[in-house]
Amino acid sequence: MAFPERFSNLPDYAFPRLRKLLDTHAPGGEPVAMTIGEPRHPMPEFVGSVLAETLQGFAVYPPNDGTPELLAAIGGWLKRRYRVEVGPERLMVLNGTREGLFNAALALVPEQKRGKRPVVLMPNPFYQVYAMAALALGAEPVYVPALASNGFLPDYAGLPREILERTALAYLCSPANPQGSVASRDYWASLMDLAEAHDFRIFADECYSEIWRTAPPAGALEVADATGADPERVFVFHSLSKRSNLPGLRSGFVAGGAGGIERIRQLRAFAGAPLPLPVQRVSERAWSDEAHVEANRALYQEKFRIADAVFSGLQGYMGPEGGFFLWLPVPDGEEAALKLWTETGVRVLPGAYLAREVGGENPGKGYIRVAMVAPKDEMQRGLMRLRDCLYG
Ligand SMILES: Cc1ncc(COP(=O)(O)O)c(C=O)c1O
Repeated sequence: MAFPERFSNLPDYAFPRLRKLLDTHAPGGEPVAMTIGEPRHPMPEFVGSVLAETLQGFAVYPPNDGTPELLAAIGGWLKRRYRVEVGPERLMVLNGTREGLFNAALALVPEQKRGKRPVVLMPNPFYQVYAMAALALGAEPVYVPALASNGFLPDYAGLPREILERTALAYLCSPANPQGSVASRDYWASLMDLAEAHDFRIFADECYSEIWRTAPPAGALEVADATGADPERVFVFHSLSKRSNLPGLRSGFVAGGAGGIERIRQLRAFAGAPLPLPVQRVSERAWSDEAHVEANRALYQEKFRIADAVFSGLQGYMGPEGGFFLWLPVPDGEEAALKLWTETGVRVLPGAYLAREVGGENPGKGYIRVAMVAPKDEMQRGLMRLRDCLYG
């Protein structure tokens, strides 16, 4: 039986790779999981009651594009958060951002760009679905290093002209997973200029936008609005997974130009899985409430302070600007993860598993990614064991 060639060279997903690396060894202490980015703070208290009130909604097919009430709640949030007016024709609800980042690319990336194979740009390291979208499209993924030397943001403008001319789409994650770097207004504005000059779209993965250290990160939508960028160039992706600790709800949205959103809706009308109506009702409530988001952020900010205290004085340590990962420099990420597991029971992800090797270099190799999702005390214990084992 034949399978598609285009997926034949996929690396193992990061977590099976990690299990292969660690699970033939016993943990050196009580296990502390700091690998997976699954939020573990409490979900908002209203989820149960809204679900109970709207249970009958499971008995009907849900509206594909989102209920008018949900789209209005999302529009209201965008207005409060970014001071941008976005009407329902510029919004589409998603089953979380992962599938949205994939499917929106299918809807919007052409088969050819200037008669040639299109390019999809992404930072390296990166959230893995970006590469899967490029492969599914038959586009060429171009992995652009996001290193300490460039503030952990990719230098797309520095790419060869031949690549930029073929570029149809550029992904950017801010705050970034894994490094926690945040794109400034200027960074976004320059990227939009580049997109205009070379005729490509930007997909801004902003699912960590509400978890920040000192100030709310600028959003691509507000920068586009302020600079008068063509709305059809900029699509932003948001999620309730991290903002509202609802990763199991599978709820997010994309906002962008009305033309592109129309294409996304059309594809989804045929092949998408709409959000069940009760999920849409819970989502509507979640986008309308900020109190639970503030409480959640305060917990993460406390964790940032704990991490800063544990690693103070460590050469190369940079606390994240946003998101909930530490990206810690080590001589070799796999060796560090294995040593940490076998000597202390703390489980972290080698940075190389989140990046691709390009020209013999894997930009994640000298890092481990540490998720600060566990309860505060457990996280602090984990970080102290990590510091003593790897940096002691
Ligand atoms: C950078 C990034 N983008 C997107 C996602 C997808 O999140 P969701 O599909 O739950 O919205 C994640 C989840 O871990 C992520 O880290």
